[in-house]
Amino acid sequence: MNIGVSGASGHLGSATVHELKARLGTRANIVAITRTPDKIATLGVEARAGDFDMPETLTEAFRGLDKLVVVPPSDMKSASRSKQACAAIDKAVAAGVRHITYLSAAGTRFAEPPHLWESFFGPEQALMRSATQWSILRMAFYAESFLDRAKMSLPRGVFASSSSTPVNFVARGDVAAAAAGLLATEGHHGAIYNATGPETLDGPARAAVVASVTGKPFAFAQVPLEQLLDGLKAAGLPPIVLDAFASIEDIWAKGGFDITTGDVARLAGRAPRRLIDVAKEYLT
Ligand SMILES: NC(=O)c1ccc[n+]([C@@H]2O[C@H](COP(=O)([O-])OP(=O)(O)OC[C@H]3O[C@@H](n4cnc5c(N)ncnc54)[C@H](OP(=O)(O)O)[C@@H]3O)[C@@H](O)[C@H]2O)c1
Repeated sequence: MNIGVSGASGHLGSATVHELKARLGTRANIVAITRTPDKIATLGVEARAGDFDMPETLTEAFRGLDKLVVVPPSDMKSASRSKQACAAIDKAVAAGVRHITYLSAAGTRFAEPPHLWESFFGPEQALMRSATQWSILRMAFYAESFLDRAKMSLPRGVFASSSSTPVNFVARGDVAAAAAGLLATEGHHGAIYNATGPETLDGPARAAVVASVTGKPFAFAQVPLEQLLDGLKAAGLPPIVLDAFASIEDIWAKGGFDITTGDVARLAGRAPRRLIDVAKEYLT
């Protein structure tokens, strides 16, 4: 069986390749798809060139694959990301890939660009409409992304956000393990899973995790979104980053990530890590 993984030079794509190798060994040919095949020689699997911005490159990249997982590209412009993932899904269907899995985001629903939901909703719909067999693995909020933002806020001792709605944080490695478990087994056609951590944390609870791990004062402060955006603008951040930030704040406030499932354990065969355990490694 030939299993393709896109975004193979990235964190999630490369971790998924490692997890697949550990699960399947020589029982499958794992194909790592990337814009930069030279950079992924250390993965130790077949590497193919493919660029979602150049769909003509994907015919060869997807040739002969039985299964493919599409990792959403890192382009910050939501409309570009949606177009890129839809192009990849189209080409995978045309190449005859039997089962296509898309890695999406928890809580995804219709939204207009530049909202981040738009970059996940369009490809989900395209996949359901056109793939012979499909599955969707919706990710909770990356623990590592939250901790990166917390690190930047540590010197001020305050994590400011426009809402305190609970958020579920998942370690990227747990998403990769769940994706690999899904790809390595059968029976997932039509399934929508949510790769989540084991708990949701409101504003004060997530700040308290950072305080306890770093030993530094770190409190939660609820601040209107406009005020947060003004601060980022004053710091010189470009509109594309402000749009992404505003989307994430909106998704958090609407409870898009306020969901806890057993899907990581079900798919990966092991329990997901808590935010505090990821923080102990990541922040120290
Ligand atoms: N749920 C969350 O909280 C959360 C947080 C952050 C990000 N995300 C999403 O999760 C994705 C994976 O995360 P990550 O940490 O692995 O990100 P990453 O390390 O930045 O990797 C993203 C990958 O996107 C691929 N990519 C970019 N442009 C592409 C194009 N034109 N064609 C094909 N591939 C392209 C790149 O693959 P190659 O360089 O190998 O071609 C890159 O390795 C992100 O891209 C983002 O959409 C989710």
